[in-house]
Amino acid sequence: MKLKFALLTALTVATASAFAEKAPEPPGGKHAQAAEQLFRASFRADNPKYWMTRLDQDETMKTCGLYRDNPPRKIGAALEKQNRATIRYPVDGKLMGDWREGEKLAAVGTGGHIGFIQPDPPGRTRGGNCYACHELAKKELAYGTIGPSLHHFGKIRGNSDEIVKYAYDKIYNSNAFTACTNMPRFGLHSWLTPEQITHIVAFLMDPASPVNQD
Ligand code: HEC
Repeated sequence: MKLKFALLTALTVATASAFAEKAPEPPGGKHAQAAEQLFRASFRADNPKYWMTRLDQDETMKTCGLYRDNPPRKIGAALEKQNRATIRYPVDGKLMGDWREGEKLAAVGTGGHIGFIQPDPPGRTRGGNCYACHELAKKELAYGTIGPSLHHFGKIRGNSDEIVKYAYDKIYNSNAFTACTNMPRFGLHSWLTPEQITHIVAFLMDPASPVNQD
């Protein structure tokens, strides 16, 4: 009995000291570095080399990580401004492409996969995978709900130049409007080309697109 008590006391003291108040480790400290190394080493060596640069965080990612995706408003606004400055437009300046092309791209969830089992072959179409997070055309029943429904997006918002530009900018760099959002920055990361983005814009905006039908 006594022994049990002594053991319990020792255990309590040990546990308490292990969790004792310590100043939190600053970002980039030794534990963070060790975790980063382990993470980088966990990718298969036969992944395309260019892909590994995706592991280098830009300032937006670092700041979002630091604030657990919820930065103070002033810092968020500064990030949004920086991200707005990255947006590039197609050479002919036309932001509305072909909704039929956009419909295909929005639905494609493959391309550019790095592999745990089998990487995507180079050149496989990279899509926007929009349905992973958004409802768009009604006929597609499988969609995620991380993002808001975009069904009737053009019908509700109209397709003024302003809203067309907003849709283009949002897809090009989602963080231009919402710092640290879950939505990828498709244009910034060259995941989609400016031209492909114009097709997806048309898919959202064109009155004939299934997004704007019932
Ligand atoms: C990983 C999830 C994810 C993916 C993939 C994704 N989005 Fe989003 N999207 C979001 C979230 C979350 C929001 C709401 C927060 C914000 O505005 O960023 C959003 C917001 C939007 C908005 C703004 C809606 C509004 O009411 O103003 C548009 C437009 C949009 N997404 C279009 C797209 C398109 C088109 C694609 C595919 C090319 C796409 N998204 C892919 C998560 C995603």
